[in-house]
Amino acid sequence: MKGIILAGGRATRLRPLTKITSKQLLPVYDKPMIYYPIETLTTAGIKDILIIVAPEYAGQFLNLLGTGSEFGAKFTYEIQEEPRGLPDAFILGEQFIGNDAVTLILGDNIFDHNFSESIQNFQKGGSVFAKEVPDPERYGVIDFDEKNNVMSIVEKPENPKSNFAMVGIYILDNRATAFAKNISPSERGELEIPDVINQYKDCGELKVKVIDGSWHDAGTFDSLLEANNYWAQKNKKIK
Ligand code: DAU
Repeated sequence: MKGIILAGGRATRLRPLTKITSKQLLPVYDKPMIYYPIETLTTAGIKDILIIVAPEYAGQFLNLLGTGSEFGAKFTYEIQEEPRGLPDAFILGEQFIGNDAVTLILGDNIFDHNFSESIQNFQKGGSVFAKEVPDPERYGVIDFDEKNNVMSIVEKPENPKSNFAMVGIYILDNRATAFAKNISPSERGELEIPDVINQYKDCGELKVKVIDGSWHDAGTFDSLLEANNYWAQKNKKIK
């Protein structure tokens, strides 16, 4: 199993914080945001990790993270020239993935949840994760029945079919790259992750699990503040 962290993009919603650095390098309590997805992957046993970054900040990521040895991992870097959408990770990462399965995690998704079991027991198809939220229209929305059969996944729908967001971690078999190459950009000009995941659903090979741990998508001022407060509280309780 390989790991990819997608940490590019323009982060215009966080200007001026992101005028001189990347969103994923901003602090979340006592460490840079990207440490959290790194630790999510390494805790689950993934040590071979591709970090995809925007060209302006590649040097900053390299200075901070280096080879990965500090994390007991091996980091490889790839530059994404333009934010073409999440599935671009599987296209840019084609050689890196090789013949393996891959877990993609978004660089601004911060979990307090252990994915070890899902990652270590993964065999084939796709596994995605859901979390109930008050504002599903902000996310990819996943609708499923009581037996966890997935009915639909839609990116930022106006009228969400459920209150479950599809969170930013995806465990996929080797078809991820081929599926990403099959799709075209949406109206907003990006490749959309549901268009990849729906291909696993159409083959009857998609699983969804609801996560009980906390999850923050730190892409707005309010969610970034919430993530900071959550981890500050949590670290104080542990000490
Ligand atoms: O946080 C979960 C949500 O993440 C999912 O529910 C959605 O289905 C998914 O599309 C995504 O939505 P966002 O609106 O939060 O995506 P955003 O554009 O903020 O990008 C997520 C991360 O990926 C962010 O750290 C920037 C990075 N990124 C994004 C794009 C589009 C890249 O590195 N390259 C890109 O081309």
